[in-house]
Amino acid sequence: MTIAEIFETLEYGPAPESADPANAWLEARGHEILPFIGGDFVRPASLEWFDTHNPGNGKVLARVAQCGKTEVDAAVEAARAAQPGWWALGGHGRARHLYALARHVQKNARLLAVLETMDNGKPIRETRDIDVPLVARHFYHHAGWAQLMDRELPGYVPLGVAGQIIPWNFPLLMLAWKIAPALAMGNTVVLKPAEFTPLTAAAFADLCRDAGLPPGVVNFVNGDGRAGELIVKHPGIDKLAFTGSTEVGRLIREATAGTGKKLSLELGGKSPFVVFDDADLDGTVEGVVDAIWFNQGEVCCAGSRLLVQEGVAEALYSRLRERMETLRVGDPRDKAIDIGAIIAPVQLERIQRLVKQGVDEGAKMWQPSWSCPRDGWFYPPTLFTEVSPSATIAQVEIFGPVLVAMTFRTPEEAIELANNTRYGLAASVWTENVNLALDIAAKITAGTVWINSTNLFDAASGFGGYRESGYGREGGREGLWEYVQPAWQAKAKKKQQDEPVEAPIVEESDEDDEQPSGLPALDRTAKMYVGGKQVRPDGELSRRIADPSGRRVGEVGEGNRKDVRNAVEAARKAAPGWARATAHLRAQILYYTAENLAARREELANRLAVMTGAGADAGRSEVDLAIDRLFTYAAWADKFAGRVQAVPMRNFTFGYHEPIGTLGILCPDAWPLLAFISTVAPAIAMGNVVVAVPSERWPLAATDLYQVFDTSDVPGGVINILTGSRDLLAGVLAAHDDLDCLWYFGPRNGAATVEKGSTGNLKRTWVDYVGRDWVDPEQGAGEEFLRQGIQVKNIWAPFGE
Ligand code: NAI
Repeated sequence: MTIAEIFETLEYGPAPESADPANAWLEARGHEILPFIGGDFVRPASLEWFDTHNPGNGKVLARVAQCGKTEVDAAVEAARAAQPGWWALGGHGRARHLYALARHVQKNARLLAVLETMDNGKPIRETRDIDVPLVARHFYHHAGWAQLMDRELPGYVPLGVAGQIIPWNFPLLMLAWKIAPALAMGNTVVLKPAEFTPLTAAAFADLCRDAGLPPGVVNFVNGDGRAGELIVKHPGIDKLAFTGSTEVGRLIREATAGTGKKLSLELGGKSPFVVFDDADLDGTVEGVVDAIWFNQGEVCCAGSRLLVQEGVAEALYSRLRERMETLRVGDPRDKAIDIGAIIAPVQLERIQRLVKQGVDEGAKMWQPSWSCPRDGWFYPPTLFTEVSPSATIAQVEIFGPVLVAMTFRTPEEAIELANNTRYGLAASVWTENVNLALDIAAKITAGTVWINSTNLFDAASGFGGYRESGYGREGGREGLWEYVQPAWQAKAKKKQQDEPVEAPIVEESDEDDEQPSGLPALDRTAKMYVGGKQVRPDGELSRRIADPSGRRVGEVGEGNRKDVRNAVEAARKAAPGWARATAHLRAQILYYTAENLAARREELANRLAVMTGAGADAGRSEVDLAIDRLFTYAAWADKFAGRVQAVPMRNFTFGYHEPIGTLGILCPDAWPLLAFISTVAPAIAMGNVVVAVPSERWPLAATDLYQVFDTSDVPGGVINILTGSRDLLAGVLAAHDDLDCLWYFGPRNGAATVEKGSTGNLKRTWVDYVGRDWVDPEQGAGEEFLRQGIQVKNIWAPFGE
């Protein structure tokens, strides 16, 4: 074609990025990908290999060694051996290494971008302009956190070795999201890339060597889920970070229950893209393109559910169809391509199957008139309209370029539809009305909300989900907590391992039943406290509470499944009002509770003295500490509030602290009053409602508080108290789908029950121990309690010029 002819037709000519550097790289390693362990590529013990393909043409790129137990053991050992030295380098030393990695990523940007495009099938435009620059940005940003760790996270220490399992949709970016914070905080890592996309991790291993990273700090093992499972179950791993399907996330939660491994899960999504009738429709159309056709729709936070206000629905659909007609699907290396290839035939079949199901279930499907290339795994952009909110395609993550559209009439309906999903990863809101935008952003249950924008990411802003989208954050200050623990907790964990807490053994005695008057004792069975009222236990059973000599000091109700159900229901009823209450009001109520507790100091001190046998002075000191702690959390209520994130976009990005919702708390036996207050107070200070089970052995100090709460204006249902067997109630609470989070302070087998039971709705759990040191202000009143009671929602809004 001559230049003149091109001017005539204005046809695009193909403009592929050269594959030469990537081919030379593959050639140099004989088209073989080996595990990277202790600073070297090593030949695996087993002879099992699998191929990795170029989704753009279906051709084999390399063969990959499937790692087994030998390699995973060796990688964990190398990481363990390297960790003390890596931590001992200090913040500045680690910062220098992370900075070097960032520089090496930039210097090799072209190779990395081309390799990623060839292995994953995403357009070169995206790997070149989004993935690789964000990878470098992550290492720069976290070099900064390494430098600042001593000053900004005093008293925190690394977890040790992090096992990291990543998916295929953003291979190098997910690697950076996982490795950069782990290394910055002094951990070493064993990472498993997804089986479909192992190439850029191997290229990154080269960079680690070139940049002089100490051997063993970063290790890669390849393979499918079997290799992942070996990492998950390895006793030498202290932390697991997983991104992938909700199904595998659940398996990992179950497999790690009770092991003490810290876990963060970044799972699926079905994110709403909400368009109001005053939105700029042309801008919105480009937003939709970025929301669902970016990365072929293989994005966990893809705006895959288009919710449009009825009046503009047809207008938006018709502009969308027009735009879809102009999208270009094809060779991912071509710089003019909008949508690349689908990762693998199995994913293509999944998309085809779900699209067929959408049609079968009665939704209206539309695709552009052109057809996709046939020599790779391609799927055209697809729009479904007239979709019912309960249709499979409206609920299930398709993970492909398929958009499902629904309409709404009012903002309330929009919120209801947006939240009508088991996920809660992200959302996007389009309107010219700032009040409406911010109102909707607050009401959507999601970890990230973009206003008049979509799919924006940055290292300074945390990313992660609510509900079945998982827990934990990656990026930003909030992401650092996933890779550290307070120094006291590391010690308490070790102590608990060495000296497991025994269940209390109490000798029974009837001494107390003898009344001096010869008359029968008056019933002193403390009731439960549900919805602001004292209620009898459903099973009409009570348990005897004894002092250390075995003498009866009272009785409490024996809580059962039905009591848990009632308490959770009462809590949920109170939740919206309490979450909306101002932080100032919550603080006032906590101060007021402290005041009323002080008024009953002697009575409570006496109760503690009699119950625990520790003496009147110890009782008084425990009450005083509890009052002090109420003041601490009243003080924090309006100060632990989130921050503006300094992202390099024209955005006001606000990491807002939201309550988690309905929280279960299982208190330890020791410090019956102090531990109860130290857990309930931070939880409600942050806007949560609680169902608390006080000390199983000495619950009476907590049941004495009902009147204190009543006279302190604590709204009914904000604090609910159940007594009985801690582990039985823990099991029931863990399995309850309406509970959002569960804290457990007790022995390891109970912790395992809680973690295992939480997989149903993937509720967040916290089972780390404070040991017996609740009295220590650092330990029993640490910021950790506040952090475990919030989730960070990042709201992005255009801001400035
Ligand atoms: P997957 O969850 O099976 O794979 C993700 C990673 O986990 C891979 O590295 C895989 O090897 C590993 N893995 C698999 N089974 C494991 C196990 N039992 N223990 C430890 N690791 C294990 O996801 P898959 O099969 O690649 O994709 C299936 C669907 O999952 C997609 O259609 C999509 O809906 C969703 N998905 C979501 C992602 C997200 O970013 N949220 C990413 C990838 C997939």
